[in-house]
Amino acid sequence: MASTKLRVAVIGAGAAGLCAARHILASPETFAPPVVFEASDRLGGTWVYTEKNEKEDAMGRTIHSSMYRDLRTNLPKEAMAFPDFPFDPSLPSFLHHLEVLAYLDSYAEQFGVCDHIRFQWQVEDIRPIQRDEGSLGGWFVTATLQHPESIQQVTEHFDAIMVCTGHYTVPFIPPIPGLDTFQGRLLHSHSYRCPEPFANQSVVLVGAGPSGVDLALQLSPVAAQVVLSHKGQPVCGLPKNVIQLPPLLKVGQKTVVFTDGSKMPADVLILCTGYKYSFPFLDLAQLGLQETDYGVGPLYQYLVPPRHPSLFLIGLCQQICPFPHFHCQVLFALAVLSGRCPLPSVADMESEVERQLQQHLKNGGLARYFLKVRIQQWSYMDNLAQLAGFPPVPPVVQQIYEDTRTSRLYNVSTYRSRNYRLLGPSAWELVQDCGGNCIKIGDAK
Ligand SMILES: Cc1cc2nc3c(=O)[nH]c(=O)nc-3n(C[C@H](O)[C@H](O)[C@H](O)COP(=O)(O)OP(=O)(O)OC[C@H]3O[C@@H](n4cnc5c(N)ncnc54)[C@H](O)[C@@H]3O)c2cc1C
Ligand SMILES: *[C@@H]1O[C@H](CO)[C@@H](O)[C@H](O)[C@H]1NC(C)=O
Ligand SMILES: *[C@@H]1O[C@H](CO)[C@@H](O)[C@H](O)[C@H]1NC(C)=O
Repeated sequence: MASTKLRVAVIGAGAAGLCAARHILASPETFAPPVVFEASDRLGGTWVYTEKNEKEDAMGRTIHSSMYRDLRTNLPKEAMAFPDFPFDPSLPSFLHHLEVLAYLDSYAEQFGVCDHIRFQWQVEDIRPIQRDEGSLGGWFVTATLQHPESIQQVTEHFDAIMVCTGHYTVPFIPPIPGLDTFQGRLLHSHSYRCPEPFANQSVVLVGAGPSGVDLALQLSPVAAQVVLSHKGQPVCGLPKNVIQLPPLLKVGQKTVVFTDGSKMPADVLILCTGYKYSFPFLDLAQLGLQETDYGVGPLYQYLVPPRHPSLFLIGLCQQICPFPHFHCQVLFALAVLSGRCPLPSVADMESEVERQLQQHLKNGGLARYFLKVRIQQWSYMDNLAQLAGFPPVPPVVQQIYEDTRTSRLYNVSTYRSRNYRLLGPSAWELVQDCGGNCIKIGDAK
């Protein structure tokens, strides 16, 4: 008898894809083991650091990860962790990227995910199969083996798809007048790897998001001068030799001009201007989706195309606590697929997304920031938990995330020296340097 278990294709073996595979494997009565397609030869996605920063790797693939050599996390491990898999308690709260990769390795190993990953298989095309009324329909997934000697392509049928391909790979380049006339070195933060090449240079960083601010910290000890150009409130706690100036008005051959009229010499211009969503393997129109100001939509609960509710785009939101967020989205998606969490009608899902967008605009939000869920992320995750019937993320995750945010706003140079200790689902305390023997420093919250 043919199996009636659902076959799910997971695209990508970064944190989100590993999480999807782990939970599919946990419901063997409903789901066949997943097939995880991973274009590279290693799991971990963003957390796989490579020195290479050319446009392409040896196989001609785009370099996926924007990781740099000396990155330390901007969230403490107590908030970063998947809710069902804590980090090693002997580690400090803020980790080097290699420790996060080791964590993802042990997560994959613990839950037996590795055997289900097809490494070096790049998904090229995902198309829905015409479906009869009431049936799931399913999908054809076409993938090619990324191998220099053998070109192999397969097309396989699946009942459902989890797209887990990340969105920090394709640089967004803002239209700055004169950018193409700049004679110095021009790069996007995607290609930044280490500070040494910028020794004694005048560096202008464009944008003060997480990358711009962190690169200012990285470069200030070695560069002759660092300018952080941005439109927001001044960033607190940057080293004295980092100058904050307004956005760029225009770029000359060796200088940059800011909107307040000031002008600075520049050897290097680093665009820390964010990334674009990219789904080259999807025909958005065919799925009832389109490119929008904020990325792609409409997506019910930020992840389901209303017209094709057996495909899920995991992890599109920004300003979130990524791993717990993936965990909730995956469990919700699996509850939908298993029938435990029926979705509203197509029309109701589409109007719900529109209602949310209007609400966002009414609250003064810009359309292009619709996916920056920030403070709504907590009620969003709680809502998914309630709809799908899984335990909500413990409140201590929010408490620690918000404490980190406050302390980062107070001083970006010092917030990573904090160490947290969990005391329960809604209790934590700060401790001094945690060498397995934590010393409490302050009242428990
Ligand atoms: C510089 C930087 C610093 C960050 N710091 C933090 C931090 O401190 N804490 C934190 O929690 N988060 C941080 N993040 C966010 C980070 O992106 C998430 O934590 C998480 O790693 C994203 O996982 P993902 O699985 O969604 O995507 P990714 O990690 O990008 O993984 C996607 C995977 O899909 C594969 N893939 C892509 N296309 C295809 C295809 N067509 N076929 C097959 N495979 C494909 C890729 O090879 C990759 O392995 C940071 C991000 C960046 C860029
Ligand atoms: C940078 O300048 C300092 C002081 O002039 C000099 O000692 C140092 O060697 C220079 N470094 C590089 C990499 O040029
Ligand atoms: C941030 O912390 C650094 C290092 O302790 C300190 O020198 C600096 O004065 C602090 N800045 C602010 C704005 O508090």
